[in-house]
Amino acid sequence: MSDKPVIVTDEASGKTLELPVVRGTEGEPTLSIKSLPKELGYFTYDPGFTATASCSSAITFIDGGKGILRYRGYPIEQLAEKSTFLEVAYLLLNGELPDQGEFDDFRRDITYHTMVHEKLNTFMTGFHYDAHPMAMMAGVVGSLAAFYHDRLDMSDPAQRMLAAKRMIAKMPTIAAACYRHHMGWPTAYPRNSLNYTERFLDMMFSVPAEEYKVSPVAAKAFDLLFILHADHEQNASTSTVRLVGSTGANPYASVAAGISALWGPAHGGANEAVLNMLEQIGDVSRVGEFIDRAKDRDDPFRLMGFGHRVYKNYDPRANIIRQAAHDVLAELGRKDPLMDLAMELEKIALEDDYFVEKKLYPNVDFYSGIIYKALGIPKSMFTVMFAIARTVGWVSHWLEHHNNPTPIGRPRQVYTGPVERDYTDISSRG
Ligand code: ACO
Repeated sequence: MSDKPVIVTDEASGKTLELPVVRGTEGEPTLSIKSLPKELGYFTYDPGFTATASCSSAITFIDGGKGILRYRGYPIEQLAEKSTFLEVAYLLLNGELPDQGEFDDFRRDITYHTMVHEKLNTFMTGFHYDAHPMAMMAGVVGSLAAFYHDRLDMSDPAQRMLAAKRMIAKMPTIAAACYRHHMGWPTAYPRNSLNYTERFLDMMFSVPAEEYKVSPVAAKAFDLLFILHADHEQNASTSTVRLVGSTGANPYASVAAGISALWGPAHGGANEAVLNMLEQIGDVSRVGEFIDRAKDRDDPFRLMGFGHRVYKNYDPRANIIRQAAHDVLAELGRKDPLMDLAMELEKIALEDDYFVEKKLYPNVDFYSGIIYKALGIPKSMFTVMFAIARTVGWVSHWLEHHNNPTPIGRPRQVYTGPVERDYTDISSRG
């Protein structure tokens, strides 16, 4: 594609308009249509924003056709192999990998903020024991604004960074508290001698009655899963966080909205939905039946964990997670029939014309649930795991927005309702 402007001609009025091509450092050429309404009187129609860039961003790059994902330029495969979640968090927030001193400071800051206000634990007890943890997460994270209202001057870059670090630090504490509330276990306070993922697992699973030792296999697997889920450019939840942030709303409210967006089964809720689906299929002999259902236009059933708005090739995260699922099961010395089922499903789907033609490949969440299950995480907590990791992406995008604000997010619509009509009294209706 060239960088020459695209000339649009309105046949009716004979007017023409040059639409400039906007280029990033990588990626597709993008037409800037900002002048279109003013110059030609037209808006553009793009339901679901399938063809629209809502902002420019220097955080994450995806080439969906080639199956490429990079954070701040670094390939996901390299970060998954060599980095840690906390280092990736620093990278996403700040743009560069830290030197040792910068990393030590960052780790100290995050560790310092891991506790939540005691009143927040009381607040948590108001939920019914079987409340979905994502509902609790959205409520509790939103409520953080009530605890830190003295540090919500978003025109101050230091307060913005403080809020971002607070959220990264407290998210595992809140997530574990949601689980413990459901289990009826007493609050577990963060043990700051542990690293980020170890501390989270300790808060999840330690009980006062017994000694708990974090499994290194589990801590390593979580670190990897958190790296892979940390950011994914303008996905539905991140776009939500940016949209809410564009109104000037505080970061806790913005991230609470992101958590709600993530919950849906078409987005982060897919990891829970995949496991439900595998359990529903139940046996390798029934895979064909469910593949047929997924292909049937009259059946709402979809293969969960398959397909992606951007990846029209293998999701690079799915490749890594698939291998990790094998490794974790092997290291724990376990066999999970759902793993065999998932592999068979993947094999058949990848050979099937319907999935091949529509370029539907396994996405990040096709195998993640199998790892979570093996590590003792209940299904209802799967999407919460995603939320812990994605908080880093959300706050990075929220900070980027505030450092270089775009106007308030306000899409237009094509109105299809009634044209003007007169009000009639209730007695004369019907
Ligand atoms: N199973 C069966 N058919 C599918 C699937 C699927 N999982 N995904 C897409 N298709 C079909 C659609 O029916 C559609 O067919 P059509 O062209 O005949 O109408 C075509 O493929 C294109 O699908 P769209 O829904 O238009 O694609 P879109 O980009 O809007 O949706 C999405 C992407 C939401 C991820 C979709 O593939 C899906 O629902 N997948 C299952 C849920 C899932 O795994 N979500 C997690 C995504 S990754 C993440 O958020 C972490």
